[in-house]
Amino acid sequence: MDSYKKYNSYKAFTIETIILNEPLAFDLYINNSSRLVKFIKSGDTLSFDKKEKLLQNGVDHFYLSSHHSKAFDTYLTNHLGTVLSSPYLNKKQKSKIIYSSAIHIMQDMFESDISQSKIMIAKDIMTETVKQIISNNVTAASILQLSTHDYQTYSHCVNVALYSIGMAHEHGLDEAMIHKIASGAILHDLGKCKIDQCIINKQGKLSLDEFEAMKEHPQYSYETLISNGETCPETLEIVLNHHEKLDGSGYARALREKEISFAAQIVTIADIFDALTSNRSYKEAESFFNALKIMKEEMKEQLNIKLVDSLIKMMGKA
Ligand SMILES: [Fe+2]
Repeated sequence: MDSYKKYNSYKAFTIETIILNEPLAFDLYINNSSRLVKFIKSGDTLSFDKKEKLLQNGVDHFYLSSHHSKAFDTYLTNHLGTVLSSPYLNKKQKSKIIYSSAIHIMQDMFESDISQSKIMIAKDIMTETVKQIISNNVTAASILQLSTHDYQTYSHCVNVALYSIGMAHEHGLDEAMIHKIASGAILHDLGKCKIDQCIINKQGKLSLDEFEAMKEHPQYSYETLISNGETCPETLEIVLNHHEKLDGSGYARALREKEISFAAQIVTIADIFDALTSNRSYKEAESFFNALKIMKEEMKEQLNIKLVDSLIKMMGKA
């Protein structure tokens, strides 16, 4: 699916994200015969008739210029809960709104800069996502169906958050705890911004030195969150420990089972599963079946297998 790919410096998002008859603080473009045309200018509104006409003509996405990214962030903060509570949206439409909103904010952080307000928006999007999943309006699997499984750090973070929410929900954790897990999961790799991008983008296996440098990223993620005002101990612990393994073979501190929280164990499994099932320039994605087989057989000493079972259950609920 190319719906969420960049159109030069424009980003696509589903038309349902826009509330009707509310003045907008950004321009909206549509794709007309492979050309972007301004459809609504800042200050104007989207009417019911205009929207219907677009949908009748097969236009279901708007494009937003990166210049208006900040205004769109504010819009998401103020309106996402209202948009998602509409009784007129079906599961697929809600899933699309959640996925494109989460991708938007994470791509913005990885491709431009990280700020406290952007971190807050990512967490707000997770609050609404968790609410929708707990209310059974969408499932984590229904949102994950929108993933292309082509690895990008920002889409990886969104996917890991969704797998983690699905597993935590499947395991019966309460809403507040699921939200802490979702926040840690979506922010877990922010520290990769501080690693040499040649290492991050390397097509192939890392050398020993490169891998040593890569091992610093959980600590960098932790420091990034602390310096941006994060205080939730559960969220911070997840970020710090998301590469630890139960048998002590993980990094950065080679912790063992009892030293790693249940929440971090969830995110570790989500992280590995998404990495295995994503296409990279140097490797094809494993099928879901193979990835689960690898995790259950080859990684059984390293992972909480009960949680791998929760992952299997949640994946069946699209
Ligand atoms: Fe990581």
